[in-house]
Amino acid sequence: MDKFIVFGGNRLEGEVEVNGAKNAVLPLMCAALLTRGETIIDNVPNLRDVRTMCQLLESMGASTHFENRTVHIDTSALEKFEADYELVRKMRASVLVLGPLLARYNKAKVSLPGGCAIGARPIDLHLRGLEALGANIDLKGGYIEATCEQLTGASYRFDYPTVGGTENLIMAAALCKGRTILENAAREPEIVDLANFINAMGGNISGAGSDLIVIEGVEELKPTRYSVMSDRIEAGTFIAAGIITKGEVLVKNCPVDGMKAVLERFRATGAQLTIQGNDVLVKMEGPIQPIDIRTQPHPGFPTDMQAQMMALMSVADGRSAISETVFENRFMHVSELRRMGADIICEGSMAVIRGKERLEGAPVMATDLRASACLVLAGLVSRGVTEIRRIYHLDRGYERIEEKLQPLGAKIQRVAES
Ligand code: UD1
Repeated sequence: MDKFIVFGGNRLEGEVEVNGAKNAVLPLMCAALLTRGETIIDNVPNLRDVRTMCQLLESMGASTHFENRTVHIDTSALEKFEADYELVRKMRASVLVLGPLLARYNKAKVSLPGGCAIGARPIDLHLRGLEALGANIDLKGGYIEATCEQLTGASYRFDYPTVGGTENLIMAAALCKGRTILENAAREPEIVDLANFINAMGGNISGAGSDLIVIEGVEELKPTRYSVMSDRIEAGTFIAAGIITKGEVLVKNCPVDGMKAVLERFRATGAQLTIQGNDVLVKMEGPIQPIDIRTQPHPGFPTDMQAQMMALMSVADGRSAISETVFENRFMHVSELRRMGADIICEGSMAVIRGKERLEGAPVMATDLRASACLVLAGLVSRGVTEIRRIYHLDRGYERIEEKLQPLGAKIQRVAES
């Protein structure tokens, strides 16, 4: 198991490039199941979750090849329609095979994901939506067993705009008989990427990016080649690194249109952001202004940036408040930040942060993906050495983050833990 050793106190300066988006590529890889033959996806980040998804597809009989940011998925020999517990346990996004398997093979058996560190995260809305399209769903022995004669288009209104639920339903409806209307759908940019991908395969989806998505089912989808959008959370994390170290960093290849809420909050900290096409130049001088944040579904402030913002607020000049409305248990980084000297009080889904001039390096433990990024940011501005354990969480969503931060002047090393 690897850990990071971070020596704090260096100003970051230079250029960094953002990778393809983890949360976009995983559903795209599942959507390859909607067709027979070889799908090719470019701009794929080299992440543990992508490799786990390759393993999952291979366990069903697909063949995959992942090299030089391109993944090839050939579904010609698919023979098993199951996602077993070991893989779903490792990566919740595995449940996204449910919709495409049902749509194309009329059956699927997928392990129930169970809880995870950041909350219970049920998938009841995915299942209800699939039932609305005509699926029969049984829960047996920890598995979802879904079958259908043929999915048929229907209207379905989500009680909550779930990202994964919207993706599962879009994929299922793409091969349905007739028209499906999804109301109160999630509006995240990754949903738009998925719809564009399926349309490139010959699908007929409109309205993605709004809360009303209309899918005209088609009989067949053809394999395609597609380049995945860039990662708005990785982009936001690098901008936060520029701000927290009072640096000057050009973050290249940001999906700026999908980052409005985050960019607006960064500006409120006093950072100067200059947007040139898809590049964001961040420059920070003077004290970091405290800001309040409320996480919400897109286009609101993303929960996946909440922990990184908390690191920033821990060294702001005053009092900030963060309200987490998307996940019920997403403040696990608070106790680790406190070990570094941060002054944070939590009550339920609210955290109040009184900024300190500096944090102190300490041994800390990463608890989930975004919490790990928060600890890296905190380490960059701490006095002394921060040792971050369990960075395998970080490797799920950031490709060798240390190799991107080092050229900017960060003193961060990956070492194997004995
Ligand atoms: C996706 C992202 C994750 C991000 C989240 C919210 C991927 C692979 N992951 O996760 O990084 O943090 O969106 O932006 O894209 N819920 C239910 N019932 C359901 C589905 C969801 O109650 O059937 C609840 C969840 O428990 C959670 C909230 O809705 O509290 C949001 O979940 P959802 O939007 O589905 O997130 P994910 O797709 O799991």
